Amino acid sequence: MNEPNNCPRGSWKSSLGFLLAATGSAVGLGNIWRFPYVVGTNGGAAFLIIYLILVAVIGLPLLLAELTVGKHTGKSPVSAFKALAPGTKWWFSGMIFVITGFVILSFYSVVAGWAMSYFFKTVRGLFSAETDFAAVFTGHIESSLTPLIWHLVFMAITIGIICCGIVKGIERSVRVLMPALSLLLVVLVIRSLTLPGSAAGLSFYLKPDFSEISPQTILSAIGQAFYTLSLGMGVMITYASYLSKDSKIPGNALGIIGIDTLIALVAGFIIFPAVFALNLDPSAGAGLAFITLPAVFSQIPGGLFFGSLFFLLLSIAALTSALSLLEVVVSWLIDEHNWSRKKASALMGFFIFLLGIPASLSFGAWSGFTIAGMNFFDFLDFLQESILLPLGGLLISIFVGYVWKAHRSRKVANDPPCGFNIGKWYDIFIRFVLPLAIALVMIFGLIDRF
Ligand code: TRP
Repeated sequence: MNEPNNCPRGSWKSSLGFLLAATGSAVGLGNIWRFPYVVGTNGGAAFLIIYLILVAVIGLPLLLAELTVGKHTGKSPVSAFKALAPGTKWWFSGMIFVITGFVILSFYSVVAGWAMSYFFKTVRGLFSAETDFAAVFTGHIESSLTPLIWHLVFMAITIGIICCGIVKGIERSVRVLMPALSLLLVVLVIRSLTLPGSAAGLSFYLKPDFSEISPQTILSAIGQAFYTLSLGMGVMITYASYLSKDSKIPGNALGIIGIDTLIALVAGFIIFPAVFALNLDPSAGAGLAFITLPAVFSQIPGGLFFGSLFFLLLSIAALTSALSLLEVVVSWLIDEHNWSRKKASALMGFFIFLLGIPASLSFGAWSGFTIAGMNFFDFLDFLQESILLPLGGLLISIFVGYVWKAHRSRKVANDPPCGFNIGKWYDIFIRFVLPLAIALVMIFGLIDRF
């Protein structure tokens, strides 16, 4: 609200605030809900190794590219592209980012709503060892009103925080939420690893079986690396635009990647030991967090308590990511159209809520409505994962590599100098490796789908 006058867009109060907000964006449903089931359905540890390599090879250069564009211009994506390539149509890629933020948040908020609703169900003690968790989950997502109410609540909280600005909204909430999230992770990992029979889960998670690896595995690993680091839609451009000129890019990039990867790995240490301790199926897919885990919690000592903590964790992780998605949309209207932050957050948040309605209903009342054989929720998910995010990543690497020029981006990354200097390898990755890898992912992803 009352950002300092000399800096009307606002800026982070401290570099820790930025790091927490950026890792908060990266750490989300992707780490705690999606990562374990992608690992579970793609051959466990063999997938893990490939994923880690791809995070370093694809994730790090793209993250550096986004951070340098943001820090150098001090602007959100559309304005940043206009500033670096005046008179061209490049600003239009910034518009794609805004649309992507819109699309992802609309269904992300629906899933976050499920997590919040499960938190309250667990707290109220509605689950017991006799519950049929698959039926409860299907019943929940197929019903019309309850998921919509939670979707509304989640969007209202997100709007409320973004309304308050960079320091008083985002920074202040991540300073509380991120430590809380870390504490919940530690408590849950201890509970899970101390269950009798948990070792089988560890060996599934950590023992590589390379016979499971196919080209499809590599595509899933690249997709997951993109998604989990919030890359390809200008989140990191936007967040870095609020950085001061003396902040150090390489250290922050390594911090974001390190913490995000650590938390995804730890989420696996919570889920697999618990699932194996109770002889449940580790490859249950999307239902792992909402069906298998509640079943686990209903059977272990202190289950309701730990179960509530798990869904609280999921809700917090989703919230800190949602903040970044809405901020991309809002900062565009503030920078380009001089809207007030309050008007932009409220109005855009409301439209995102509206787009989420058909996504939520597509599991029940509107399941008959399909696009290319997918229900509306799956269609939005497909759109962002297979088209919008890879396209965004491709545009960023081409823009930074060839239009703005990789060496300029590298100069920004290395100024002020810090212990870790970005070398010439960066130019090669941005100009050749990334565009090629991303284009391949897009093409094979689409061929595979249709
Ligand atoms: N990274 C988040 C997760 O792992 C999701 C997310 C937030 C995201 N912002 C994003 C994904 C921007 C892509 C782009 O859950």
